[in-house]
Amino acid sequence: MSLQPVKIGLLGLGTVGGGTINVLRRNAGEIARRAGRGIVVVSAAARDPGKARSLALDGIRVAGDANAIVADPEVEIVCELIGGIEPARTLVLAAIARGKHVVTANKALIALHGNEIFAAASRKGVMVAFEAAVAGGIPIIKAIREGLSGNRIQTVAGIINGTCNYILTEMRQLGGDFQDVLAEAQRLGYAEADPTTDIDGIDAAHKLTILASIAFGIPLQFDKVYTEGIGRVGVMDIAYAEELGYRIKSLGIARHGGDGIELRVHPTLIPKRHPIAGVEGVMNAVLVVGDAVGPTMFYGRGAGAEPTASAVVSDLVDVVRAMTSDPENRVPHLAFQPDAISNIIVKPMEEVRTAYYLRLSAVDKPGVLANVTAILGSLDISIEAIIQKEPDKNANVVPVIFLTQRVVEKNMNEAISRIEALDSVRGNVFRMRVETLE
Ligand code: NDP
Ligand code: HSE
Repeated sequence: MSLQPVKIGLLGLGTVGGGTINVLRRNAGEIARRAGRGIVVVSAAARDPGKARSLALDGIRVAGDANAIVADPEVEIVCELIGGIEPARTLVLAAIARGKHVVTANKALIALHGNEIFAAASRKGVMVAFEAAVAGGIPIIKAIREGLSGNRIQTVAGIINGTCNYILTEMRQLGGDFQDVLAEAQRLGYAEADPTTDIDGIDAAHKLTILASIAFGIPLQFDKVYTEGIGRVGVMDIAYAEELGYRIKSLGIARHGGDGIELRVHPTLIPKRHPIAGVEGVMNAVLVVGDAVGPTMFYGRGAGAEPTASAVVSDLVDVVRAMTSDPENRVPHLAFQPDAISNIIVKPMEEVRTAYYLRLSAVDKPGVLANVTAILGSLDISIEAIIQKEPDKNANVVPVIFLTQRVVEKNMNEAISRIEALDSVRGNVFRMRVETLE
């Protein structure tokens, strides 16, 4: 290994930036044996360089201006670990314009501006690698883009937000208060700078956008993902689901049917016997079903400093290995050749078929359930199970839970608005979707 080490400029010295420095230092020998050259961070930027004092930065020049790192002629690979859209987008495009390769963990940036970024990178013949953008330490991008490239992929579904899974797990196991559990996820470095991005399902939708693109060969189209967060899931829903044999998980689901693609993120009841139901805490799991391989599952830490750094460093190794290769012969950014991307339609949510969990508060008197079941029946919605809980004597209402069979979402929307209009039903009907993942 007589070649000089490859020099990295790191933008961002937070959770992932700090983890990346640690992993590169600790495993320097193994990394160099794999890459064929050493990989060293020569300069780094943070808004407030003073805050990074706790990191082992010896030998790394730290700047407050990220542009200086991008412009540094010594830097061959720019590693963007700032997050968000701006200034990350401008910095990444500036690095590409200077002919530098880029590694990023920024799913928001790739989901929203990846089409532009990859086009710019292809014109310049540089690589933009983004393994850490989806499912933290799980090498799911590489698995789909390379390991499963012989397959027609039918489904990609799973737990792709560590913060939500951590919160749902803590709520079920300890009955913890939502805000306290979220604060703990933030302290552990799992949550985004704005944690509503996690809770509202937006972070998972960014990741699903990327997964769907590399699985089906479609453009990145974040605006087509149906997104619902976990904010309305109550401890009682988790308990009712358990009673019915299900566990609630926030799932990202991308499914290729004959008539279009489903792209959706929402809290979902899945059977307790399914392996994904046992994925707890910050762990992520992604199920990928291909026509040749059948179902495959990928499991690991979905967030946190070193698990994410594991993915960032694997990208650095990949880029170093391919730096001297002909750009035409590299793995395409989005798995499919850019001129072979297809425009298959993404189905509106109203046309998706799924089963449902409904929770409503009914006035405690005879005939109420008959009215609700009549509405469901009139819209071809078959009931799988009903449970009625003890009445709330103060409010004179009973919580009633329905599990239905699969039906097209527009029928369920109609049923819910008719049920909510009944005099004998109080407040809104709370709905979650149910998937068997079979
Ligand atoms: P942090 O908030 O911990 O770190 C962000 C870093 O970027 C800080 O050092 C911050 O500096 C610096 N920064 C912010 N704005 C600028 C700027 N304008 N110029 C220079 N530096 C700037 O974020 P994370 O490390 O958690 O996340 C980084 C990226 O990795 C995000 O895209 C995130 O989505 C992604 N990611 C995160 C995971 C995780 O588990 N945390 C997992 C997978 C991906 P300062 O502190 O001084 O403001
Ligand atoms: N906030 C993200 C999560 C980080 O909780 O999954 C990993 O992408």
